[in-house]
Amino acid sequence: MAGLSEELVRELIEKAIEAMSRAYTPYSRHKVGAALLTADGTVYTGCNIENVAFTPTNCAERTAFFKAVSEGCRDFAAIAVVGGPDGILSEECPPCGVCRQVMMEFCDPETFQIITASGPDAWHIRSLKEYLPMGFGPDRL
Ligand code: THU
Repeated sequence: MAGLSEELVRELIEKAIEAMSRAYTPYSRHKVGAALLTADGTVYTGCNIENVAFTPTNCAERTAFFKAVSEGCRDFAAIAVVGGPDGILSEECPPCGVCRQVMMEFCDPETFQIITASGPDAWHIRSLKEYLPMGFGPDRL
């Protein structure tokens, strides 16, 4: 599990599920929650926040990242993501391309772990590199 204990994975999934309950989704009704683990063990949660003009909508993962970065943290270990229609979890909710790119800005693609869960006891763990091979990161400029 690449350095993450089963207990920690469960804790992150539970925090993501709790965060999902705060999703603001009057347009898609697709609720998403995320729990972002920093290198020092702090967890920042996030939910998706939609907007009537659609494009200002923010995904759960980016809400968590922007909360953390705005609090001074830029060192991340893993993120758990859950989501489903009306918050009903039945399958994995993989991060969208924009969120993957935001992860690429702050995370080492080889070591940053993305946990996608369809319930507290059913998850997959993959690296950011698996989600975004040949990603365009800060070292390119
Ligand atoms: N959404 C997320 O929060 N994270 C993702 O990675 C995929 C999509 C949200 C955005 C929108 O509120 C809803 O799910 C439907 O796209």
